[in-house]
Amino acid sequence: MVRLDESYIVCVTYAVRLTLYEREKDMTVHKPEEKTEGTAVAETMKAYTRKRYGTPDVLELVDKELPTPNDEQVLLEVKASSLNAFDWHMLTGTPLMVRAVAGLTKPKSPGSGSDVAGVVVAVGKDVTALSVGDEVFGGVGAGAFAEYAIANPKSLARKPANLSFEEAAAVPMAALTALQALRDAGGLERGQHVVVNGASGGVGTYAVQIAKALGAEVTAVCSTTKVDQARSIGADTVIDYKNQDYTEMVRDADILFDNVGNRPWSDTSKVLAEGGINVAVTGPKKRWLGPLRSMLFRKVQSRFGAKRMTWFTASTTRADLETLAGMLEAGAIKPVIEKVYALDEVPEALTHLSQGHAKAKLVVSI
Ligand SMILES: NC(=O)c1ccc[n+]([C@@H]2O[C@H](COP(=O)([O-])OP(=O)(O)OC[C@H]3O[C@@H](n4cnc5c(N)ncnc54)[C@H](OP(=O)(O)O)[C@@H]3O)[C@@H](O)[C@H]2O)c1
Repeated sequence: MVRLDESYIVCVTYAVRLTLYEREKDMTVHKPEEKTEGTAVAETMKAYTRKRYGTPDVLELVDKELPTPNDEQVLLEVKASSLNAFDWHMLTGTPLMVRAVAGLTKPKSPGSGSDVAGVVVAVGKDVTALSVGDEVFGGVGAGAFAEYAIANPKSLARKPANLSFEEAAAVPMAALTALQALRDAGGLERGQHVVVNGASGGVGTYAVQIAKALGAEVTAVCSTTKVDQARSIGADTVIDYKNQDYTEMVRDADILFDNVGNRPWSDTSKVLAEGGINVAVTGPKKRWLGPLRSMLFRKVQSRFGAKRMTWFTASTTRADLETLAGMLEAGAIKPVIEKVYALDEVPEALTHLSQGHAKAKLVVSI
Protein backbone atom coordinates (compact mmCIF):
# COMPACT_ATOMS: atom_id res chain seq x y z
CA MET A 1 0.00 0.00 0.00
CA VAL A 2 3.03 2.20 0.05
CA ARG A 3 4.67 2.23 -3.33
CA LEU A 4 1.69 3.57 -5.21
CA ASP A 5 1.98 6.83 -3.29
CA GLU A 6 5.07 7.52 -5.36
CA SER A 7 3.12 8.43 -8.47
CA TYR A 8 2.10 11.89 -7.44
CA ILE A 9 2.62 13.58 -10.77
CA VAL A 10 0.58 10.96 -12.53
CA CYS A 11 -2.20 11.48 -10.04
CA VAL A 12 -2.28 15.18 -10.31
CA THR A 13 -2.35 15.22 -14.06
CA TYR A 14 -4.94 12.52 -14.25
CA ALA A 15 -6.98 14.19 -11.57
CA VAL A 16 -7.02 17.35 -13.67
CA ARG A 17 -8.07 15.28 -16.64
CA LEU A 18 -10.69 13.51 -14.62
CA THR A 19 -12.11 16.80 -13.44
CA LEU A 20 -12.35 18.10 -16.99
CA TYR A 21 -13.94 14.85 -18.01
CA GLU A 22 -16.45 15.02 -15.19
CA ARG A 23 -17.28 18.58 -16.19
CA GLU A 24 -18.07 17.35 -19.66
CA LYS A 25 -20.37 14.79 -18.14
CA ASP A 26 -22.26 17.57 -16.36
CA MET A 27 -23.19 19.21 -19.64
CA THR A 28 -26.86 19.26 -20.60
CA VAL A 29 -28.18 15.74 -20.76
CA HIS A 30 -30.36 14.62 -23.65
CA LYS A 31 -32.08 11.37 -24.33
CA PRO A 32 -29.61 9.48 -26.54
CA GLU A 33 -30.49 8.85 -30.12
CA GLU A 34 -29.99 5.17 -30.83
CA LYS A 35 -28.66 4.71 -34.32
CA THR A 36 -29.40 1.01 -34.51
CA GLU A 37 -32.65 -0.61 -33.58
CA GLY A 38 -33.01 -3.62 -31.35
CA THR A 39 -30.28 -2.88 -28.78
CA ALA A 40 -31.73 -3.96 -25.48
CA VAL A 41 -30.41 -1.75 -22.69
CA ALA A 42 -31.23 -2.54 -19.08
CA GLU A 43 -32.71 0.16 -16.84
CA THR A 44 -30.45 -0.49 -13.89
CA MET A 45 -26.88 -1.65 -13.53
CA LYS A 46 -24.43 -2.86 -10.94
CA ALA A 47 -21.71 -0.29 -10.32
CA TYR A 48 -19.16 0.55 -7.66
CA THR A 49 -19.70 3.76 -5.77
CA ARG A 50 -18.09 5.41 -2.73
CA LYS A 51 -18.85 8.40 -0.56
CA ARG A 52 -15.36 9.06 0.80
CA TYR A 53 -11.69 8.48 0.09
CA GLY A 54 -10.18 5.36 1.55
CA THR A 55 -8.93 1.85 1.03
CA PRO A 56 -11.01 -0.56 -1.11
CA ASP A 57 -13.48 -1.20 1.71
CA VAL A 58 -15.07 2.21 0.99
CA LEU A 59 -16.30 0.80 -2.32
CA GLU A 60 -19.89 -0.45 -2.46
CA LEU A 61 -21.29 -2.50 -5.33
CA VAL A 62 -24.83 -1.16 -5.74
CA ASP A 63 -27.76 -1.26 -8.16
CA LYS A 64 -28.27 2.13 -9.76
CA GLU A 65 -29.91 3.78 -12.75
CA LEU A 66 -28.06 3.74 -16.02
CA PRO A 67 -26.24 7.02 -16.77
CA THR A 68 -27.46 8.95 -19.82
CA PRO A 69 -24.91 10.23 -22.36
CA ASN A 70 -25.09 13.83 -23.48
CA ASP A 71 -25.02 14.81 -27.18
CA GLU A 72 -21.28 14.16 -27.49
CA GLN A 73 -20.98 10.99 -25.44
CA VAL A 74 -21.72 7.30 -25.79
CA LEU A 75 -23.05 4.73 -23.35
CA LEU A 76 -21.02 1.53 -23.19
CA GLU A 77 -21.98 -1.88 -21.97
CA VAL A 78 -18.76 -2.63 -20.14
CA LYS A 79 -17.46 -6.11 -20.85
CA ALA A 80 -14.13 -5.75 -19.06
CA SER A 81 -11.93 -3.25 -17.29
CA SER A 82 -8.39 -3.30 -15.89
CA LEU A 83 -6.63 -1.72 -12.94
CA ASN A 84 -4.07 1.06 -12.91
CA ALA A 85 -2.24 2.95 -10.17
CA PHE A 86 -4.43 5.90 -11.17
CA ASP A 87 -7.50 4.05 -9.83
CA TRP A 88 -5.79 3.62 -6.48
CA HIS A 89 -4.85 7.30 -6.26
CA MET A 90 -8.40 8.36 -7.08
CA LEU A 91 -9.81 5.86 -4.57
CA THR A 92 -7.58 6.89 -1.69
CA GLY A 93 -7.12 10.57 -2.56
CA THR A 94 -3.36 10.18 -2.25
CA PRO A 95 -1.00 11.92 -2.53
CA LEU A 96 -3.08 14.57 -0.82
CA MET A 97 -2.50 17.15 -3.55
CA VAL A 98 -4.75 15.02 -5.76
CA ARG A 99 -7.68 16.22 -3.69
CA ALA A 100 -7.21 19.78 -4.90
CA VAL A 101 -8.88 18.68 -8.13
CA ALA A 102 -10.55 15.36 -7.30
CA GLY A 103 -12.44 16.81 -4.30
CA LEU A 104 -11.04 18.30 -1.10
CA THR A 105 -13.01 16.49 1.59
CA LYS A 106 -14.70 13.78 -0.47
CA PRO A 107 -14.43 12.55 -4.06
CA LYS A 108 -16.40 14.54 -6.63
CA SER A 109 -16.80 11.40 -8.71
CA PRO A 110 -18.40 8.40 -6.95
CA GLY A 111 -17.32 6.00 -9.73
CA SER A 112 -14.10 4.03 -9.96
CA GLY A 113 -12.13 2.46 -12.81
CA SER A 114 -10.86 4.00 -16.03
CA ASP A 115 -9.76 1.38 -18.57
CA VAL A 116 -12.61 -0.16 -20.51
CA ALA A 117 -13.52 -2.57 -23.29
CA GLY A 118 -17.14 -2.92 -24.25
CA VAL A 119 -19.95 -2.38 -26.71
CA VAL A 120 -21.60 0.92 -27.63
CA VAL A 121 -25.29 0.70 -26.69
CA ALA A 122 -26.36 4.33 -27.15
CA VAL A 123 -24.87 7.43 -28.78
CA GLY A 124 -25.42 11.15 -28.29
CA LYS A 125 -26.87 12.94 -31.30
CA ASP A 126 -23.58 14.68 -32.23
CA VAL A 127 -21.51 11.49 -32.20
CA THR A 128 -20.42 10.48 -35.67
CA ALA A 129 -17.33 8.38 -35.01
CA LEU A 130 -19.14 5.47 -33.34
CA SER A 131 -22.42 3.62 -33.72
CA VAL A 132 -24.50 1.33 -31.57
CA GLY A 133 -23.01 -2.16 -31.66
CA ASP A 134 -19.38 -1.06 -32.11
CA GLU A 135 -16.88 -2.98 -29.99
CA VAL A 136 -14.44 -0.49 -28.49
CA PHE A 137 -11.64 -0.04 -25.95
CA GLY A 138 -10.20 3.03 -24.24
CA GLY A 139 -10.65 5.18 -21.15
CA VAL A 140 -13.73 6.52 -19.38
CA GLY A 141 -12.08 8.68 -16.69
CA ALA A 142 -14.07 7.13 -13.84
CA GLY A 143 -16.85 4.57 -13.65
CA ALA A 144 -15.49 1.57 -15.56
CA PHE A 145 -15.99 -0.80 -12.60
CA ALA A 146 -19.67 -1.08 -13.57
CA GLU A 147 -21.94 -2.83 -16.05
CA TYR A 148 -22.42 0.38 -18.06
CA ALA A 149 -20.33 3.55 -18.36
CA ILE A 150 -20.41 6.89 -20.13
CA ALA A 151 -17.47 7.61 -22.45
CA ASN A 152 -16.18 10.36 -24.69
CA PRO A 153 -15.68 8.91 -28.20
CA LYS A 154 -12.36 10.78 -28.44
CA SER A 155 -11.01 8.40 -25.78
CA LEU A 156 -12.16 5.23 -27.55
CA ALA A 157 -11.10 3.21 -30.58
CA ARG A 158 -12.36 0.03 -32.16
CA LYS A 159 -11.31 -3.07 -30.27
CA PRO A 160 -8.58 -5.05 -32.05
CA ALA A 161 -10.36 -7.93 -33.77
CA ASN A 162 -7.98 -10.59 -32.46
CA LEU A 163 -8.36 -9.63 -28.78
CA SER A 164 -11.00 -10.70 -26.27
CA PHE A 165 -12.68 -7.93 -24.27
CA GLU A 166 -10.54 -8.91 -21.28
CA GLU A 167 -7.35 -8.59 -23.32
CA ALA A 168 -8.44 -5.29 -24.86
CA ALA A 169 -9.29 -3.85 -21.41
CA ALA A 170 -5.72 -4.60 -20.32
CA VAL A 171 -4.35 -2.21 -22.94
CA PRO A 172 -5.35 1.46 -22.67
CA MET A 173 -3.61 3.37 -19.88
CA ALA A 174 -0.57 1.13 -19.48
CA ALA A 175 0.17 0.72 -23.18
CA LEU A 176 -0.52 4.38 -24.01
CA THR A 177 1.94 5.37 -21.29
CA ALA A 178 4.62 3.09 -22.69
CA LEU A 179 4.03 4.14 -26.31
CA GLN A 180 3.93 7.88 -25.70
CA ALA A 181 6.83 7.86 -23.22
CA LEU A 182 9.13 5.99 -25.59
CA ARG A 183 8.07 7.49 -28.91
CA ASP A 184 7.20 11.08 -27.95
CA ALA A 185 9.08 11.90 -24.76
CA GLY A 186 12.05 9.64 -25.50
CA GLY A 187 12.15 10.16 -29.28
CA LEU A 188 12.99 6.47 -29.73
CA GLU A 189 14.76 5.58 -32.97
CA ARG A 190 15.41 2.16 -34.46
CA GLY A 191 18.65 0.59 -33.20
CA GLN A 192 18.76 2.54 -29.94
CA HIS A 193 19.35 0.94 -26.54
CA VAL A 194 16.39 1.27 -24.13
CA VAL A 195 16.50 0.34 -20.44
CA VAL A 196 13.11 -0.32 -18.81
CA ASN A 197 13.29 -0.05 -15.00
CA GLY A 198 10.17 -1.77 -13.64
CA ALA A 199 9.72 -4.09 -16.61
CA SER A 200 7.28 -6.54 -15.07
CA GLY A 201 4.18 -4.47 -14.24
CA GLY A 202 1.39 -3.17 -16.43
CA VAL A 203 3.35 -0.33 -18.04
CA GLY A 204 6.66 -2.20 -18.04
CA THR A 205 5.45 -5.23 -19.98
CA TYR A 206 4.18 -2.92 -22.72
CA ALA A 207 7.33 -0.79 -22.62
CA VAL A 208 9.55 -3.81 -23.30
CA GLN A 209 7.37 -4.99 -26.18
CA ILE A 210 6.80 -1.56 -27.74
CA ALA A 211 10.50 -0.70 -27.57
CA LYS A 212 11.27 -3.99 -29.33
CA ALA A 213 8.53 -3.38 -31.90
CA LEU A 214 10.03 0.06 -32.61
CA GLY A 215 13.41 -1.54 -33.27
CA ALA A 216 15.26 -1.01 -29.99
CA GLU A 217 17.64 -3.24 -28.09
CA VAL A 218 16.01 -3.64 -24.68
CA THR A 219 17.40 -4.19 -21.20
CA ALA A 220 14.67 -5.03 -18.68
CA VAL A 221 15.01 -4.54 -14.91
CA CYS A 222 12.69 -6.62 -12.72
CA SER A 223 12.65 -8.91 -9.69
CA THR A 224 13.83 -12.52 -9.67
CA THR A 225 10.45 -14.22 -10.16
CA LYS A 226 9.71 -12.13 -13.27
CA VAL A 227 12.95 -12.62 -15.17
CA ASP A 228 11.46 -15.36 -17.37
CA GLN A 229 8.42 -13.23 -18.17
CA ALA A 230 10.66 -10.33 -19.24
CA ARG A 231 12.61 -12.65 -21.54
CA SER A 232 9.43 -14.14 -22.97
CA ILE A 233 8.15 -10.73 -24.07
CA GLY A 234 11.37 -9.97 -25.92
CA ALA A 235 13.89 -8.32 -23.60
CA ASP A 236 17.42 -8.84 -24.94
CA THR A 237 18.99 -8.56 -21.49
CA VAL A 238 17.27 -8.95 -18.11
CA ILE A 239 18.69 -7.58 -14.86
CA ASP A 240 17.31 -9.00 -11.60
CA TYR A 241 17.27 -5.99 -9.29
CA LYS A 242 17.10 -8.21 -6.22
CA ASN A 243 20.64 -9.40 -6.95
CA GLN A 244 22.12 -6.84 -9.33
CA ASP A 245 22.28 -3.05 -9.68
CA TYR A 246 21.41 -1.86 -13.18
CA THR A 247 22.96 1.55 -12.56
CA GLU A 248 26.33 -0.17 -12.11
CA MET A 249 25.88 -2.58 -15.02
CA VAL A 250 24.47 -0.54 -17.91
CA ARG A 251 26.28 2.22 -19.78
CA ASP A 252 25.59 4.22 -22.94
CA ALA A 253 21.82 3.67 -23.04
CA ASP A 254 19.88 6.05 -25.26
CA ILE A 255 16.68 5.95 -23.17
CA LEU A 256 16.09 4.99 -19.55
CA PHE A 257 12.33 4.51 -19.21
CA ASP A 258 11.78 4.57 -15.46
CA ASN A 259 8.55 3.14 -14.03
CA VAL A 260 9.89 3.02 -10.51
CA GLY A 261 11.72 6.29 -9.83
CA ASN A 262 13.68 4.80 -6.96
CA ARG A 263 17.16 6.11 -7.81
CA PRO A 264 18.66 9.61 -7.78
CA TRP A 265 19.91 11.37 -10.91
CA SER A 266 23.50 10.73 -9.83
CA ASP A 267 22.81 6.99 -10.33
CA THR A 268 20.45 7.01 -13.31
CA SER A 269 22.54 9.45 -15.32
CA LYS A 270 25.44 6.95 -15.28
CA VAL A 271 23.31 4.56 -17.35
CA LEU A 272 22.86 7.06 -20.17
CA ALA A 273 25.02 7.85 -23.18
CA GLU A 274 25.87 11.51 -23.84
CA GLY A 275 22.65 12.88 -25.33
CA GLY A 276 20.62 10.08 -23.73
CA ILE A 277 17.36 10.73 -21.91
CA ASN A 278 15.75 9.50 -18.70
CA VAL A 279 11.98 9.42 -19.20
CA ALA A 280 10.33 9.09 -15.79
CA VAL A 281 6.63 8.35 -15.27
CA THR A 282 6.72 8.19 -11.50
CA GLY A 283 8.79 9.52 -8.63
CA PRO A 284 9.78 9.11 -5.00
CA LYS A 285 6.97 9.11 -2.48
CA LYS A 286 6.10 11.96 -0.21
CA ARG A 287 2.81 12.66 1.51
CA TRP A 288 2.25 16.16 0.12
CA LEU A 289 4.56 17.70 -2.50
CA GLY A 290 7.79 15.79 -1.90
CA PRO A 291 8.18 14.40 -5.41
CA LEU A 292 7.83 17.86 -6.89
CA ARG A 293 10.95 18.92 -5.06
CA SER A 294 12.76 15.81 -6.21
CA MET A 295 11.55 16.27 -9.76
CA LEU A 296 12.70 19.86 -9.91
CA PHE A 297 16.03 18.91 -8.36
CA ARG A 298 16.67 16.20 -10.95
CA LYS A 299 15.54 18.43 -13.76
CA VAL A 300 17.88 21.20 -12.66
CA GLN A 301 20.76 18.74 -12.25
CA SER A 302 20.19 17.36 -15.72
CA ARG A 303 20.54 20.88 -17.17
CA PHE A 304 24.25 20.84 -16.42
CA GLY A 305 25.23 18.06 -18.79
CA ALA A 306 24.48 16.47 -22.12
CA LYS A 307 22.23 13.85 -20.50
CA ARG A 308 18.60 14.78 -20.20
CA MET A 309 15.76 14.00 -17.85
CA THR A 310 12.04 14.48 -18.47
CA TRP A 311 8.76 13.77 -16.72
CA PHE A 312 5.95 12.36 -18.71
CA THR A 313 2.20 11.88 -18.32
CA ALA A 314 0.17 9.89 -20.84
CA SER A 315 -3.04 10.99 -22.52
CA THR A 316 -5.85 8.86 -23.94
CA THR A 317 -6.25 9.69 -27.61
CA ARG A 318 -8.07 7.79 -30.32
CA ALA A 319 -5.08 8.11 -32.67
CA ASP A 320 -2.74 6.35 -30.24
CA LEU A 321 -5.33 3.72 -29.31
CA GLU A 322 -5.54 3.02 -33.05
CA THR A 323 -1.74 2.81 -33.26
CA LEU A 324 -1.79 0.25 -30.44
CA ALA A 325 -4.67 -1.63 -32.08
CA GLY A 326 -2.53 -1.91 -35.23
CA MET A 327 0.43 -3.27 -33.24
CA LEU A 328 -1.83 -5.73 -31.41
CA GLU A 329 -3.49 -6.95 -34.60
CA ALA A 330 -0.08 -7.41 -36.23
CA GLY A 331 1.06 -9.46 -33.23
CA ALA A 332 3.89 -7.02 -32.50
CA ILE A 333 2.69 -6.64 -28.91
CA LYS A 334 0.28 -8.58 -26.70
CA PRO A 335 -1.33 -7.92 -23.32
CA VAL A 336 0.25 -9.79 -20.42
CA ILE A 337 -2.39 -10.57 -17.79
CA GLU A 338 -1.68 -11.86 -14.31
CA LYS A 339 -5.26 -12.50 -13.25
CA VAL A 340 -8.87 -11.89 -14.30
CA TYR A 341 -11.22 -10.92 -11.45
CA ALA A 342 -15.03 -10.84 -11.30
CA LEU A 343 -16.80 -7.51 -10.72
CA ASP A 344 -17.43 -8.29 -7.06
CA GLU A 345 -13.68 -8.92 -6.60
CA VAL A 346 -12.58 -5.38 -7.52
CA PRO A 347 -11.63 -4.48 -3.90
CA GLU A 348 -9.42 -7.58 -3.74
CA ALA A 349 -7.82 -6.70 -7.06
CA LEU A 350 -7.14 -3.11 -5.95
CA THR A 351 -5.52 -4.37 -2.76
CA HIS A 352 -3.22 -6.61 -4.80
CA LEU A 353 -2.32 -3.73 -7.13
CA SER A 354 -1.55 -1.45 -4.19
CA GLN A 355 1.20 -3.78 -3.00
CA GLY A 356 3.26 -2.69 -6.02
CA HIS A 357 4.29 -6.10 -7.36
CA ALA A 358 1.58 -7.03 -9.84
CA LYS A 359 2.85 -9.40 -12.51
CA ALA A 360 1.57 -7.37 -15.47
CA LYS A 361 -2.11 -6.45 -15.78
CA LEU A 362 -5.00 -7.16 -13.43
CA VAL A 363 -8.26 -7.39 -15.35
CA VAL A 364 -11.93 -7.30 -14.31
CA SER A 365 -14.39 -9.32 -16.38
CA ILE A 366 -17.92 -7.92 -16.19
N1 LIG B 1 3.02 9.15 -15.99
C1 LIG B 1 2.01 8.43 -16.46
O1 LIG B 1 1.30 8.85 -17.37
C2 LIG B 1 1.72 7.09 -15.87
C3 LIG B 1 0.75 6.27 -16.41
C4 LIG B 1 0.54 5.01 -15.86
C5 LIG B 1 1.31 4.60 -14.77
N2 LIG B 1 2.22 5.45 -14.25
C6 LIG B 1 3.02 5.05 -13.10
O2 LIG B 1 3.94 4.05 -13.51
C7 LIG B 1 4.20 3.17 -12.45
C8 LIG B 1 4.05 1.76 -12.93
O3 LIG B 1 2.68 1.55 -13.25
P1 LIG B 1 2.15 0.09 -13.53
O4 LIG B 1 0.75 0.20 -13.95
O5 LIG B 1 3.11 -0.62 -14.40
O6 LIG B 1 2.24 -0.53 -12.04
P2 LIG B 1 2.21 -2.06 -11.62
O7 LIG B 1 1.49 -2.86 -12.63
O8 LIG B 1 1.76 -2.08 -10.21
O9 LIG B 1 3.74 -2.49 -11.68
C9 LIG B 1 4.68 -1.98 -10.84
C10 LIG B 1 5.94 -2.78 -11.06
O10 LIG B 1 7.03 -2.13 -10.41
C11 LIG B 1 7.98 -3.12 -10.18
N3 LIG B 1 8.94 -2.72 -9.15
C12 LIG B 1 8.67 -2.47 -7.85
N4 LIG B 1 9.82 -2.12 -7.23
C13 LIG B 1 10.81 -2.18 -8.16
C14 LIG B 1 12.22 -1.94 -8.16
N5 LIG B 1 12.85 -1.56 -7.04
N6 LIG B 1 12.91 -2.07 -9.30
C15 LIG B 1 12.29 -2.46 -10.44
N7 LIG B 1 10.96 -2.72 -10.51
C16 LIG B 1 10.24 -2.58 -9.39
C17 LIG B 1 7.19 -4.33 -9.76
O11 LIG B 1 7.85 -5.47 -10.23
P3 LIG B 1 8.55 -6.51 -9.25
O12 LIG B 1 7.44 -7.26 -8.59
O13 LIG B 1 9.38 -7.29 -10.19
O14 LIG B 1 9.31 -5.71 -8.23
C18 LIG B 1 5.85 -4.17 -10.48
O15 LIG B 1 5.70 -5.13 -11.48
C19 LIG B 1 3.23 3.55 -11.32
O16 LIG B 1 3.92 4.27 -10.34
C20 LIG B 1 2.20 4.41 -12.01
O17 LIG B 1 1.63 5.37 -11.18
C21 LIG B 1 2.46 6.67 -14.77
